[in-house]
Amino acid sequence: MDASREPTAWTSSEVADDFVRWDDTVGWLLGYPFVFAALRLEQPDVTALLDLGCGPGHVARRAAEEHDVDVHAADISPAMLTIARTRYRHPRVTCHLMTGSKLAFLPDASVDAAMSCFVFVCVPERRQLQDLAAEVHRVLRPGGRFALLNAHPGHTGVVFDSFRIGLPGVDYRPGTPMPVRLRRTDDEWLDIVDTYWPGETYHELLHDADFTRVWQEEPTLDDARRLLGAGAASGREWTAERETPPFLLVVGEK
Ligand SMILES: C[S@@+](CC[C@H](N)C(=O)[O-])C[C@H]1O[C@@H](n2cnc3c(N)ncnc32)[C@H](O)[C@@H]1O
Repeated sequence: MDASREPTAWTSSEVADDFVRWDDTVGWLLGYPFVFAALRLEQPDVTALLDLGCGPGHVARRAAEEHDVDVHAADISPAMLTIARTRYRHPRVTCHLMTGSKLAFLPDASVDAAMSCFVFVCVPERRQLQDLAAEVHRVLRPGGRFALLNAHPGHTGVVFDSFRIGLPGVDYRPGTPMPVRLRRTDDEWLDIVDTYWPGETYHELLHDADFTRVWQEEPTLDDARRLLGAGAASGREWTAERETPPFLLVVGEK
């Protein structure tokens, strides 16, 4: 994939094939498990989960494997959904192709929890982010939570184990294109272009969509050891992750 000023076209099958090769070990240490915990997937009253922008569906599948949940996995990319329906298929995951920002396949208040991992940075228009947040609020039941996971916008230019967002020394403004590098499992680097949104934007979006309580987490290696066990962070030489949280998790409760 070429780095250019145009945001990456996520509906292309080339992008889907490349993204599925991202070495997301850090995501499984400092990202997704904190999403599952924030959404209380282990609770008996959480049985229907929305994964907005599910991509290849590996996170949706893991949620269904580890918890008693039926997952609605939704994405705008037919190529991503093909991977989700084949390589990462699971009987409790149903895939849905989205057109625009609507979740027409879900009635009001029909899911107990929702997550959107590394998706809002793919959306260049704030209006569209507002529409997505409002739509998630519509389909969540009262008391349900929405977790938004993204690379930490406060840490642009920092080289983490398998990614870097933005360039060192560049001050990005909300809604501007930002180059991103992802390290693949074969050690090649992928270049994509995201949109820079600061942490405040995620808070504002959830408040504006009428989430009553909004908070954030910045998981560290110590947090991962507490959540996943003392040995969770061993097995890899972490570098910037030792000092700097790579991800920002913003959670809203309806
Ligand atoms: C970086 S991938 C992340 C995939 C997955 N959530 C994960 O954590 O591995 C971003 C995904 O968001 C999807 N996406 C981008 N814009 C979207 C939108 N407006 N609505 C739904 N999905 C969107 C893309 O097609 C892509 O599959």
